[in-house]
Amino acid sequence: MLTIALSVRKFATVEKMNQLAAEAFVRISNDAITARTRFTVMLSGGSTPRRFYELLATPPYRDQMAWEKMDFFWGDERSVRPDHPDSNYRMAREALLNEVPISDGPVHRMPAERAALDDAAREYQAEIARSFDIHPYGGPPRFDLILLGMGTDGHTASLFPHTHALKESSRWVVPNYVPKLDSYRLTLTPLVINHAACVMFLVAGANKAESLARVIAGPADPEKLPAQLINPTSGSLAWFVDTSAASKLAKRRTSA
Ligand code: 6PG
Repeated sequence: MLTIALSVRKFATVEKMNQLAAEAFVRISNDAITARTRFTVMLSGGSTPRRFYELLATPPYRDQMAWEKMDFFWGDERSVRPDHPDSNYRMAREALLNEVPISDGPVHRMPAERAALDDAAREYQAEIARSFDIHPYGGPPRFDLILLGMGTDGHTASLFPHTHALKESSRWVVPNYVPKLDSYRLTLTPLVINHAACVMFLVAGANKAESLARVIAGPADPEKLPAQLINPTSGSLAWFVDTSAASKLAKRRTSA
């Protein structure tokens, strides 16, 4: 049984889940800016966050944040051009970044379309280090917020079951070949994710119910269920889920 201390917040609808997640984002960003004059966030990809990002870009949430004090990064990216329909960057640009008052400077795109993916990973790690003003081969950066999704196979970011990146213990960003997709990705590693001040999963849909129950309440098996690797060493972990995704989770594991 997994023993990490976590909070699973279950919502009757995906819209309600996104609204409460948006409220949390506003709170976390404002607290970070008050404490350190800026907010560093790692955006997740896939389809679930799109509506969440759209909410952040509309009142009241949009008007409650100091967008000019934020830095945006990605947790993973597919090996496609930034204008490709599958690009996580393109999705976040369309749903959020093009709709809020920010310049291009604080938008740190993950260049996963590059042929030399290992070079691209090292360059992205160096870009993160510059932004955090830390050494590129020192201890990992501490993001104020890392957003994550989860696949039906229990993957998160591009940390897929039985793939090389699961074992990375020193780099912050690595290329990762995903056999089931027969494609390469760039992904942040558990080392960086687990160093964050706050990690927020957004998981919705009945198709995630089986894997969510196994990740949260099943025996530890992170090779098979990589989302189990996410356990911030000195930060908070919160799961925002809808009732469909939580349908196989025992009542005691969730709070309404
Ligand atoms: C990606 C994501 C990935 C995503 C899950 C869930 O690039 O695909 O980063 O980790 O969060 O696959 O995706 P959905 O939200 O589309 O179900």
